[in-house]
Amino acid sequence: MRRKVTIVGAGNVGATTAQRIVDKALADVVLVDVVEGLPQGKALDMAESTPVSGADVSVTGTNGYEETAGSDVVVITAGIARRPGMSRDDLLLTNMKIMTSVVAEVVKHSPDTILVIVSNPLDAMVQKAYEISGFPKERVVGMAGILDTSRFRTFLAQELNVSVTNVSAYVLGGHGDSMVPLLGTTTIGGKPVTEMIDADRLEEIVQRTRDGGAEIVNYLKTGSAYYAPSAAATQMVEAILGDRKEILPCAAYLEGEYGINGLYVGVPVKLGAGGVEEIIEIELTGAESAALRASADSVQELIDVMAANTD
Ligand code: NAI
Ligand code: 2OP
Repeated sequence: MRRKVTIVGAGNVGATTAQRIVDKALADVVLVDVVEGLPQGKALDMAESTPVSGADVSVTGTNGYEETAGSDVVVITAGIARRPGMSRDDLLLTNMKIMTSVVAEVVKHSPDTILVIVSNPLDAMVQKAYEISGFPKERVVGMAGILDTSRFRTFLAQELNVSVTNVSAYVLGGHGDSMVPLLGTTTIGGKPVTEMIDADRLEEIVQRTRDGGAEIVNYLKTGSAYYAPSAAATQMVEAILGDRKEILPCAAYLEGEYGINGLYVGVPVKLGAGGVEEIIEIELTGAESAALRASADSVQELIDVMAANTD
């Protein structure tokens, strides 16, 4: 039997994620959006591409949730995106309301699904989705670390003129200005990056990574990145559907790991059919541990704002 993936939010990230899943024939896809005609039109267009790609999957667009019933994975990208001058945190209260209503509908129709949250501010939204869904922590996970890490790997590969596949790195922490690109464990073809790029230049690359989202927003002006984000979300869907047990940096609920408790923060996790099957604790330097905890504190501030604005 074919698998089923629902994507809520048929905008840039949602539709591009759907397209990637359809192109890879990973699952039947249901695209949901509040805008009438938008998910239907995009779904039909994508379905009409399948004879060319040879993908035997269906694509359905809808403004409701009936068609999403029994989804194996639900990716939530619904919400507003950044425009120039806005931080991810400026989206908090609007997207909190959207996340609350979307998750309530999704779990009604797919009580056994795994939720992959994408909407920003990511860590706060995934925490809200966890709360509203009532799901076990393993079945609610957030996408950001793969994206931030992919940006970091891109910049390092460009700097050293090597294949992106030779750059092994992690960006951990919250998906915000305080994210933590790790230097201690980053290697290029097995060699420590700190031996290949001097400290000042590395700091510039780290900062460009932290500003990676804003760099794209400043170019696009009317929205934010979606090619790399959709690639990252698709990698998570593929790991879950294929039970790949792939270790990837994702926002996961921590209960003491890395000294953080009761909070979603980006860390390496093993992603498989059960969702987050394990939190992987890697060794961090003292400075990296402190930076990770500081990043978690920034996430906690957003959680507190949400709590103060919840009826
Ligand atoms: P977009 O504006 O292109 O698409 C958002 C879609 O959500 C729109 O089509 C809108 O109609 C829909 N929507 C709004 N309320 C809805 C509801 N209640 N139910 C269903 N659909 C609803 O935005 P884009 O670029 O696709 O980004 C989506 C979200 O993902 C934003 O919050 C953005 O900040 C976030 N994002 C997160 C990333 C991450 O690394 N976690 C990376 C890129 C984007
Ligand atoms: C990004 O990092 C906007 O969070 C989104 O591109």
